[in-house]
Amino acid sequence: LTALALLVAGAFLWLWTSADVTTVGKESFDNELAIPPLAESRVDKDGTRVFDLRMRPGHKEFVDGRTTDTWGFNGDHLGPTLRAQRGEKVRVRVHNGLDEASTVHWHGMHLPAKMDGGPHQMVAAGATWSPHWTVDQPAATLWYHPHPHGATERHVQRGLAGMFILDDPASDRLALPTRYGIDDIPLIVQDVSFDGAAFDHGRGPMQNVGFLGERTMVNGTLSPYRKVADERVRLRLLNASTARTYAFGFSDDRAFDLVGTDGGLLERPAAIERLQLSPGERAEIVVTMRPGERTVLRSYPQDNYGDAWQQRFNGGDDSFDVLQLRAADRLRPSPGTPAELGTPEVPDGTEAVKTRHFDLKRSGINGRAMAMDRVDEIVTRGTTEIWTVRNTNGMPHNFHVHDVQFRVLEVNGEAPSGALRGPKDTVFVPNGTTMKLALRFDGPADPNTPYMYHCHLLYHEDRGMMGQFVVVENGRQAGGPGRHQHQH
Ligand code: C2O
Ligand code: CU
Repeated sequence: LTALALLVAGAFLWLWTSADVTTVGKESFDNELAIPPLAESRVDKDGTRVFDLRMRPGHKEFVDGRTTDTWGFNGDHLGPTLRAQRGEKVRVRVHNGLDEASTVHWHGMHLPAKMDGGPHQMVAAGATWSPHWTVDQPAATLWYHPHPHGATERHVQRGLAGMFILDDPASDRLALPTRYGIDDIPLIVQDVSFDGAAFDHGRGPMQNVGFLGERTMVNGTLSPYRKVADERVRLRLLNASTARTYAFGFSDDRAFDLVGTDGGLLERPAAIERLQLSPGERAEIVVTMRPGERTVLRSYPQDNYGDAWQQRFNGGDDSFDVLQLRAADRLRPSPGTPAELGTPEVPDGTEAVKTRHFDLKRSGINGRAMAMDRVDEIVTRGTTEIWTVRNTNGMPHNFHVHDVQFRVLEVNGEAPSGALRGPKDTVFVPNGTTMKLALRFDGPADPNTPYMYHCHLLYHEDRGMMGQFVVVENGRQAGGPGRHQHQH
């Protein structure tokens, strides 16, 4: 009798667990992946490329028959892909058609602090802001999103995010896939939950980390598939989620070529099987397809969380589908991934004049919550610095610095591997990690307008995990946005 009971219980357990394994995180891929349109632009008499971006409320059917209220740029949800060449002068006329103030930040862009779109460049409801700058950095996959202090999570969750692709002559000459939306595909990955038709941005069980959605969407498409007809496809991955970290890989564990990180191309491609991206990070990968096959881009368990966080962070399930790729029966041949890609323009740290330390806590960085009228760090224009960033806070954080692309020199004393070897503006800093970064500040000095550094888990950022730095000419004192200067 005992044996029989055990057998029945065992069978029951098997059914229960296998049902779990086969359904949780599995998608049916019913929807064709949307591709954000390329933004229209015109070139002014003085050669400036001018874009128009209008933030506005909208609505969209994510699920048939259910209309969700959204926000978007030039449309109902998300925004068009802006694209410009190195050396080009650009101007973006940002109109705020919402009924509250917001900003638009050019994440990853090297540009004057006044044009950065951080919390000091608020655009009132109904107003227009027209930042302009000259693109002066290598080809890269950047993005844009609002940055109003205390409200960034909410503004991004409602749909305000888009890509900003930069090109340069050297990368144009490489044999990489470049046909936008065909073999060069932008993937804006976000998580979402619905309460009936409406977005549900309740924080759920994860009070500490921020919002973790129940579903994944790519370019605003739930359960997406994309047909491809080329042997090699470049995917530009952007984690535009507000808190969730992904470890991307394919369902058959195939290797793919990592060719670029936040700030542009690597020196050489790296064949990898898993790619971890925390909120705000990007990567460019090249995937080789076989005729007629279907393969699924998924997110896999991440072993750099503590066990407790592994379970809690992902809501008990670590593995879920993101996008299905469907290869045509006949594929256009593509050249192999070039062995040499680019020369990342990030410092190696040998010329560093100063080291600063940043201790990441949910309550603030270096023990202080963000204050709009306090400058935390003053750096000298034209110098290189080492920043060490440490997380012993018992929960995941990441670290983003405005204006610069940096090099990761060390992770817990070891040389970085994989996607940490490319130019970065945002890095994942798991609990128990110290990162050593080399940054060079070579933009224009502006003692009165700060740039931000912060955790890009937007709930943390909004709650004060952010600080401000100004770039000054040698020896000059910063004026700062307020009275309370904080000197070290
Ligand atoms: Cu993507 Cu300060 O932000
Ligand atoms: Cu954080």
